[in-house]
Amino acid sequence: MADGSLRWWDREVGYEVYIRSFADGDGDGVGDFPGLTEKLDYLAWLGVGIVWITPFYPSPMCDFGYDVADYTGVDPLFGTLDDFDDCIAQAHQLGLRVLIDLVPNHSSDRHPWFQASRSDPDSPKRGYYHWRDPAVGGGPPNNWVSHFGGSAWTFDEASQQYYLHLFLPEQPDLNWSNPNLVREFDDVLAFWLDREVDGFRIDVAHGLVKNMLMPDNPQRFATAPGMSPRQVFGCYEHRYDLDQSGNASIYRRWRAIAERYDALLLGEVYLRENNPDRVSRYVSAQDGLHRAFYFAPMHTPWEPSAMWSTFRDALDAAPRDLSWAISSHDDPRAPSRLGGGEMGQSRSLAYSVMLFALPGLPFLYQGDELGLEDVDVPLDQRRDPVAIRNQNPADGRDGCRTPMPWSPGPAAGFTDGAESWLPAAREDGETVSVQRGEQGSILHKYRKLLALRRERHDLHAEGLEWLTGRTSSVIGFRRGDTVCALNAGDVPAEFQLPPGQWRLAFSSRRPAGAAITSAIVLDAPEGVLLIRVPDADSGLRRPPGARL
Ligand code: NOJ
Repeated sequence: MADGSLRWWDREVGYEVYIRSFADGDGDGVGDFPGLTEKLDYLAWLGVGIVWITPFYPSPMCDFGYDVADYTGVDPLFGTLDDFDDCIAQAHQLGLRVLIDLVPNHSSDRHPWFQASRSDPDSPKRGYYHWRDPAVGGGPPNNWVSHFGGSAWTFDEASQQYYLHLFLPEQPDLNWSNPNLVREFDDVLAFWLDREVDGFRIDVAHGLVKNMLMPDNPQRFATAPGMSPRQVFGCYEHRYDLDQSGNASIYRRWRAIAERYDALLLGEVYLRENNPDRVSRYVSAQDGLHRAFYFAPMHTPWEPSAMWSTFRDALDAAPRDLSWAISSHDDPRAPSRLGGGEMGQSRSLAYSVMLFALPGLPFLYQGDELGLEDVDVPLDQRRDPVAIRNQNPADGRDGCRTPMPWSPGPAAGFTDGAESWLPAAREDGETVSVQRGEQGSILHKYRKLLALRRERHDLHAEGLEWLTGRTSSVIGFRRGDTVCALNAGDVPAEFQLPPGQWRLAFSSRRPAGAAITSAIVLDAPEGVLLIRVPDADSGLRRPPGARL
């Protein structure tokens, strides 16, 4: 594809800032805009191009901001609208683009829309939510379950009806069949785009539209006592509550708005089956979302055949539209999931090499660049409602949400206050300042990788040629004059290069620079990037100044 058809995000790597845990500017133990603004130069130094900021809107914080009480404000915990504007202006000055998190599937039960809807069944806002009579004979209107445990319906004594919530009861689902609600969100998008955000990460992008007849979902497996909410949720086929075809019309509408601002729409399409064909229906070069997160890489076991299926299938379904990540604020950090310790860190870095080289938009989650593992947060310090409701730390997401470690000290430089909202202590070697001072640190390796991904125009366009096949432990592919290979097996493996001279531009395991012809033996694990060296005799030599 010619460079002319590239969009600004095609060249970039994104970075998820979980704002509560990034940097605390006012000493109250919770991250905020002044803290984030102060650290933007770090992100620019690291070399990311897009910063996604998780929800910062006024909220009772039942789900730590994913329960929005006002879509056009800033919660005082995080600062003011002026602080927000300063942050955006400073980011832009540093050449960073900013995505904010839009939460359209549900609001907070404290949102004035829901308050009106609940207090007066005749209010025009009643139709902004899903209210239903009890089933014949009593009980919830259907068998839908909440992601966070229990029925997806809560009974309202006053009106003798149930309302729907696919997450907490404090997060009532909005009714996207209501045209007035649809128009409200047009205004929300415009409000933030006019404040110069560069796009949106759309929460639960696959969930907005429901089948309005609300039939029972087919049950695939029996539920059993002791199952986690995630397991119970997986016992049902979500035929009527998620992934409805009507979602497309919302994104068509938003795309028209976004295009007026050259803004990016990036969906969280967290389909449990990780079916890439279904995820790909959300993205489109013309009129859908620009990009959608594909979550399979966070769940695929470190095993070559599983990884092959994940990536071949995904790229067949959506050759350039997916967004990749190894960790997030909802899932265990990659080094913990991939074996822990040095093994987990090596695999995570090797994995990142591949994700950064695939077509699509890669993201780091804060701390990935430091090789951070999850923290084992004791039950009495847990904050995630999923852990608390179910009294099971394994269900919770606190372990991956603990504060970013900036420098050695009791709170690892996250806060000057006495206490942080989740435990902040980390080993000195895990902190930004220590790793910045060591040339061979994981942080410096990520920085190098980010620089390569930005410089290598081969990695920005569409298209990839597989160099190995599903039976190989090495996942190898070529994009123009750049080759990437990941050994996902347990033993070293030889990787055959295409003809020509190659230079090792990056390895997750060894210094770069070596000239290589024909083959390289990859360690286990190891991820490498190789660049073709122009051949002086073959006429392939490029004119001076031309890019590689
Ligand atoms: C996905 C978000 O990433 C998660 O943190 C949140 O709890 C749910 N959506 C509900 O908004």
